[in-house]
Amino acid sequence: MNIGIITVRDLDYHPNGRLSQSAAEKGHRAVLIHPYEVWPKIGEEGLGYEGRPDLRSMDVIMPRQGATIGESSLTLLHHLSRMGIPLVNDFDAVRITRSQIMTLQALAIEKIPVPDTLFVNSRKGFFKAIPLTGGYPVVVKQVSGRQGAGIQLVENRNQANAMLAKDIDLRTGILLQRFIPTVGRQDLRIFVVGGRAAGAMEIQPENGDFRANFHLTRKSRPRKVTPMLEKIALDAARVTGLDIAGIDLIVDRHDDIYVIEVNYSPGFKGLEKATGLDIAGCMIDCAIAKAKCTGRKVEG
Ligand SMILES: Nc1ncnc2c1ncn2[C@@H]1O[C@H](COP(=O)(O)OP(=O)(O)O)[C@@H](O)[C@H]1O
Ligand SMILES: [Mg+2]
Repeated sequence: MNIGIITVRDLDYHPNGRLSQSAAEKGHRAVLIHPYEVWPKIGEEGLGYEGRPDLRSMDVIMPRQGATIGESSLTLLHHLSRMGIPLVNDFDAVRITRSQIMTLQALAIEKIPVPDTLFVNSRKGFFKAIPLTGGYPVVVKQVSGRQGAGIQLVENRNQANAMLAKDIDLRTGILLQRFIPTVGRQDLRIFVVGGRAAGAMEIQPENGDFRANFHLTRKSRPRKVTPMLEKIALDAARVTGLDIAGIDLIVDRHDDIYVIEVNYSPGFKGLEKATGLDIAGCMIDCAIAKAKCTGRKVEG
């Protein structure tokens, strides 16, 4: 089968390289598709596209642009989804999970535990929200961030003013979240593929930082998960509609569990390194299974 990977990166990028290698090992072919090379076409015949004729031969497509995916790439996914092309993950799930706030909305309504959060889009709202989310220090998050880049700890009013002067886009809004102290805390990433936990790892923040992202620390270790953690991770993937998901969780010092983030195109370099598991292989199997159960070829 042919598996399209929508990405702006090349084969040197770990996930792209591993997915291509794994597809080949299983007798399939992965094809990188740059989103700016495909132009959705709307006409008398309905929906089609120009730019990449090879898209016609794709059996399934994996969107892999991360939370910073822009409106035009999202529109492309909508187009492909409407054409009936199997997507792993599908348009609705990507649309929800590229936004930190829409993700939390989808989780909380299903009683999946998340940290107290307020979404504000004004300066006044920002300062009103601070005591309502536990007071300083408070975690401030951009709606779409990745690899720890869109998140900061604001410790006092001066820092809040400095942040508001440069980092806030009131048209997009911003999240204020209760800070979970690092003492006695565990940060976990559970990788969910096709409704089961394919692997899990623990990441510790660097000294002095509160963010545990593999991208920042480069250190991870394998982690056995309890049935409760596994259930929460599987539920988080299910309610956001993801076939493939990287679920970030925190277990605080009182053993309370919170889902922090749900990633629709998670990296897996740290996880494969820590566990020795073939995560790329699981993802390819999942994509092939979805292509088979949808059972159609792309028409251009
Ligand atoms: N409310 C919070 N309290 C304490 N630490 C947090 C909180 N939210 C996030 N973090 C830390 O910051 C990291 C990055 O946050 P996350 O929301 O996953 O954004 P990103 O998309 O940048 O990974 C998390 O893995 C966690 O270690
Ligand atoms: Mg994260």
